[in-house]
Amino acid sequence: MSTPAVTRTLPADATTAALRTDVAAGLSHTPKRLPPKWFYDARGSELFEKITTLPAYYPTRAEREILLREAPRIAEATGARTLVELGSGSSDKTRHLISALPQLHTYLPVDVSESALTAAARALTAEHPGLTVHALVADFLLGFALPGSPTPRLLAFLGGTVGNLLPQERAAFLRSVHDLLAPGDALLLGTDLVKDEATLVAAYDDPEGVTAAFNKNVLSVINRELGADFDLDAFEHVALWDAEREWIEMRLRSRVQQSVKVPALDLAVVFEAGEEMRTEVSAKFREETVRAELTAAGLDLAHWWTDEADRFALSLAFRR
Ligand code: SAH
Ligand code: TRP
Repeated sequence: MSTPAVTRTLPADATTAALRTDVAAGLSHTPKRLPPKWFYDARGSELFEKITTLPAYYPTRAEREILLREAPRIAEATGARTLVELGSGSSDKTRHLISALPQLHTYLPVDVSESALTAAARALTAEHPGLTVHALVADFLLGFALPGSPTPRLLAFLGGTVGNLLPQERAAFLRSVHDLLAPGDALLLGTDLVKDEATLVAAYDDPEGVTAAFNKNVLSVINRELGADFDLDAFEHVALWDAEREWIEMRLRSRVQQSVKVPALDLAVVFEAGEEMRTEVSAKFREETVRAELTAAGLDLAHWWTDEADRFALSLAFRR
């Protein structure tokens, strides 16, 4: 059996250096905050996969429904010979796309989570012996080069992950996607949609406590990588809907007054009882804002598809 190629665009110590910088900046900011990409070590990726199976977490099922229904249209509209996927994780839903693209020659999954990426690349290589699979361990926010591969290309960014970027980051990111593509190449973008607050909050605050464990995992990452002494039980998971900014905000609330040491940063940080630290946002979208943001980045919206219940959307846009 052939094995997929894996390319690391960052040396392992660059990751620690970036984590150090991010944690130092986030913990000294008022209010405190932590950047989201550090959720996804091996355990974080496993916990996220569990989230996708929770009854209240509808985005994965809704997006799968659209992909299954529209894959033939996506194949016809793009004629893709290369499929690039950013934040591919387990590549589970992507299978529906791969099976539906008759011309597909190369699959390039890109993710920071090396464990999830490698497992997915191996599984897909076994399932599609004729497909060239080349996995890239890279941070999609830092900009990276794609290995040569046949055109046209389709770049998929699924799971509503674009909503985890802050508005400014999102605009810069969409521009970088534009720059990665050639005229006629396409972007397939998954976005969760604005809906009633109860449904949204339930998706990010399950009774099983899986999302809480996922949220707190970022503390375990900092403990392991920077020698910090965060006590996970001393923090509580919070998910709230910001109606003005139309995003779900994930926070960790300190249950007590406490001091946390981060030896690698030579830092001791005090948390007041009840103090909240933002760990992630998950923006929810409307058709007009998605269209406008894509247009601003030089990407023209060609198709807008939603699931039957109008919870989630897939956009297909072409680089101008
Ligand atoms: N696409 C999958 C997984 C979504 S979870 C799905 O739809 O279910 C988000 C994924 O993006 C995770 O696998 C995480 O490791 C990856 N990710 C998050 N931030 C990233 C970054 N800055 N660069 C590369 N990958 C990132
Ligand atoms: N892209 C996912 C989303 O926004 C990530 C996610 C799901 C997440 N549940 C979470 C991030 C809980 C942080 C905490 O839906």
